[in-house]
Amino acid sequence: MHTRPRIAVLPVAGFGTRVLPATKSIPKEMLPIVDRPALQYVVDEAFAAGITHCVLITGRGKAAIEDYFDEAYELERALERKGKAELWDELKRLRPKEGTMSFVRQQSARGLGHAVWCARDIVGDAPFAVLLPDVIIKGKPGCLAQMMEAYDDVGGNIIAVDEVPEADVSKYGVIKPKGSLDGPLIAMSGMVEKPPVAEAPSRYKITGRYILQPEVMRLLATQEAGAGGEVQLTDAMARAMEAGSPFHAFAYQGQDYDCGSKLGYFEAVLAHALDHPEIADGARELVSKA
Ligand code: UTP
Repeated sequence: MHTRPRIAVLPVAGFGTRVLPATKSIPKEMLPIVDRPALQYVVDEAFAAGITHCVLITGRGKAAIEDYFDEAYELERALERKGKAELWDELKRLRPKEGTMSFVRQQSARGLGHAVWCARDIVGDAPFAVLLPDVIIKGKPGCLAQMMEAYDDVGGNIIAVDEVPEADVSKYGVIKPKGSLDGPLIAMSGMVEKPPVAEAPSRYKITGRYILQPEVMRLLATQEAGAGGEVQLTDAMARAMEAGSPFHAFAYQGQDYDCGSKLGYFEAVLAHALDHPEIADGARELVSKA
């Protein structure tokens, strides 16, 4: 049995330039998907998978995130006074238990790898999960919970992947399989960022959920800036793989939405509206008229 990760790192310090101007003053992770911020879905996914502590890597202009996960004392008392017990209960239910969430400041946005490394003291020498909060994955159970099950079998490092049409591979980072493609777990020998269609080693795109071993965190300490002048998590993972650390891709059951892009964000709102107990019927009617 492999010891499951208990700590998840959620980097939320990026600039979100693809959804400007909204992200000039609102962290992109706080953009609402119907009635709750994108980040809430991802935090829920982490805790539902057995994670006991989430480390959010924040930065300047991201204070709304800390406030969101805190008790809103005046608001909650007002809801209580007005007899809106259901809403009050919902807010309490969504709020993480005290002491189960930390906020670490990434002083300058030097890339995803650097953001993850900022959590090193809290993660310590243990396996950990990374969830990119601008990607929401609708799945039952959630994507990370599915990955934990797979982890029980193989341990090591696990990267969530989703199969995309061949014509789309050049938009994503894709994995290089070394084993059979039967079943959801695929042994990996590498990763390629945005390959031309003809050279793509697979159609499995990397989607923003990882279970990683401590050696990846150690390698991040010496990881130099790579593509785009940023410290890349993929570069540290590639070095870990070269050094013999086992990596599997895991093809989860579910649908992912890239809320960091305009179209992906719109698709996420639409899918969640069509599924929302309060507004699903109305949303369906609106869509049929569009
Ligand atoms: P992205 O590259 O998708 O985020 O990083 P970004 O940089 O905010 O996006 P654009 O390209 O400017 O639109 C994936 C995740 O990593 C975080 C982001 O907040 C996002 O959730 N991130 C990225 C950091 O926390 N720090 C960084 O230095 C870079």
